[in-house]
Amino acid sequence: MGTTHVRHNRDADWDAWPVTDYLAENYRRLHPCDIGVIHHHAAVYRQIAPGSLARTLELGAGPNLYPLMLAGAASRRVDALEPGAANLRYLRRQLDRGPDASWRPFYALCRSLDAALPESAAEALRPVRVVPGTVDDVVPGAYDLASMNFVAESVTEDAGEFTRICDAFVQAVRPGGRLVAAFMERMPSYRIGAGPLWPACPVDEAALRAVFAPRTSVLRIARVDKDPTLPEYGDTGILLLSAERPAGPPTAPDAPAPQG
Ligand SMILES: C[S@@+](CC[C@H](N)C(=O)[O-])C[C@H]1O[C@@H](n2cnc3c(N)ncnc32)[C@H](O)[C@@H]1O
Repeated sequence: MGTTHVRHNRDADWDAWPVTDYLAENYRRLHPCDIGVIHHHAAVYRQIAPGSLARTLELGAGPNLYPLMLAGAASRRVDALEPGAANLRYLRRQLDRGPDASWRPFYALCRSLDAALPESAAEALRPVRVVPGTVDDVVPGAYDLASMNFVAESVTEDAGEFTRICDAFVQAVRPGGRLVAAFMERMPSYRIGAGPLWPACPVDEAALRAVFAPRTSVLRIARVDKDPTLPEYGDTGILLLSAERPAGPPTAPDAPAPQG
């Protein structure tokens, strides 16, 4: 009998992420699923007073600018943490020279949903700092809000490693800090174009609840339907999460009820 090799995060070459093909497949035009994600995330940011967050995190930013744009009103500094060399190059170029024209409809939608966002996308991206590094470099409690889009489930086949990445994501924010995230639903390992197979861990709503319910409060999970305008990645849609890191010490799920 052969053994199945479970691929971990370190087994993939993130420096070689195919930025051009990834953008072409996902972000060169506004897809219905992006509209769903942006509506969800904008509703979180609308609840936050402009400029009231000192420091926020985009974990595994990749070349996706819309989560960074959405943070542009609430956050005075956004750390776009990313390990991949090609993604880092793309992000730096976008910040230095201004975002590609293909991001215009994304920003128009973000701004239509959050009146606190400035007129131009370049201005919204001004608080962004590109930070090379991985989830292992996140300093616990350093952020007022953390955002993560298509990362924990899309960078490993190992369910334990998925949980550890989600745990570090939660721990990234101070007690009471906010979390907003998107996950591909039930996506197996995937290819971008004709490139290599990237490791993924299929997750559904129950898997997200199992990981996040013991670690967060005010947990909400929504979903958008599978988007037929995207390539066939084997997913069944997108799961959207908002939550907070509890302000007090976490309560064990089976802790006895307080007496008295
Ligand atoms: C599927 S892409 C998602 C990119 C982007 N967040 C988006 O919304 O399109 C996964 C991203 O996670 C990054 N990544 C891989 N391993 C990571 C790790 N250990 N820590 C943080 N990011 C990682 C990859 O380089 C890539 O940019």
